[in-house]
Amino acid sequence: MKSDLISLADHPPDILQGVLALAAELKSESRRGTGRRPLVGRTLAMIFEKPSLRTRVTFETGISQLGGGAIYLAPQDIQLGARETVGDIARNLSRWVDLIVARTFRHELLVELAREASVPVINGLTDLLHPCQVLADCQTLEERFGRLAGLKVAFIGDGNNVVNSWLNAAVAFDLDFRLACPAGYEPDARILAAARASGRGRITLVEDPREASRDADALYTDVWTSMGQEAETQARRLAFAGYQLNSQLLAVAAPHAVVMHCLPAHRGEEIAADVLDGPRSVVLEQAENRLHAQKAVMIWLNGTVRAAA
Ligand code: CP
Ligand code: NVA
Repeated sequence: MKSDLISLADHPPDILQGVLALAAELKSESRRGTGRRPLVGRTLAMIFEKPSLRTRVTFETGISQLGGGAIYLAPQDIQLGARETVGDIARNLSRWVDLIVARTFRHELLVELAREASVPVINGLTDLLHPCQVLADCQTLEERFGRLAGLKVAFIGDGNNVVNSWLNAAVAFDLDFRLACPAGYEPDARILAAARASGRGRITLVEDPREASRDADALYTDVWTSMGQEAETQARRLAFAGYQLNSQLLAVAAPHAVVMHCLPAHRGEEIAADVLDGPRSVVLEQAENRLHAQKAVMIWLNGTVRAAA
């Protein structure tokens, strides 16, 4: 039976913990120059409706390091759902390639792509979720602290796609996750309710960034205006004015706290430049770990193929 990575919530914690363990092994193998190549002859199709630096480059580099190849399909190339149906695209690609990664606006479109494809589909970000980012972030935290369970992660800002994946990660990895966001910018209500009902992890929503940051092991932020929300930029600047990750917030976190951002960042908006570029920042470790975590995801999902109907 084929498996997809649409949401971290679709997979049991032990599987996701195994993926992180594999990611750590792949990273140390690659540092020693002894990287394995289990995907020789495999092809990854990469469908992008939105821009990307990290996701595109790490998937393309990752499959090539594992012995395979990638084909990048820009929005104008296939025009998902416009030039032909999502189902037709999924069924055609499934006859040629072994894996698909897609970055879409509507989450439902990715779900449909996965349903119609007989090869594994990986979520490279949708308006709802960004699971590959948060897997790499958890790898980064595990490296730094030697464990994940019980870590206090404070996210300051918008309850967006990255936050929704953090809620799932709090369940999978038993985190103490705090979100400080203004009223009206909370995360997805269903994802929040399911995470709270899981009985795993701890989830706290507050409006005050200082309250969320107190004693935190990690302070995290992301842009106030995500891709596709550009028309709301001014309103969001006003709503998030008190939500900058800066040295005052860092001062209330634990003395060993790290600063995280999925990037791209806007210095002087959601994060102060001295904090983003300062000694506590692990943003480049996060970016590097996208490569290792996604190589682990591709190895995990490869070979889980559904028979063509
Ligand atoms: N963090 C992240 O997903 O970056 P890109 O949008 O550049 O892929
Ligand atoms: N929340 C951001 C993440 C970018 C990696 C966005 O969706 O634009």
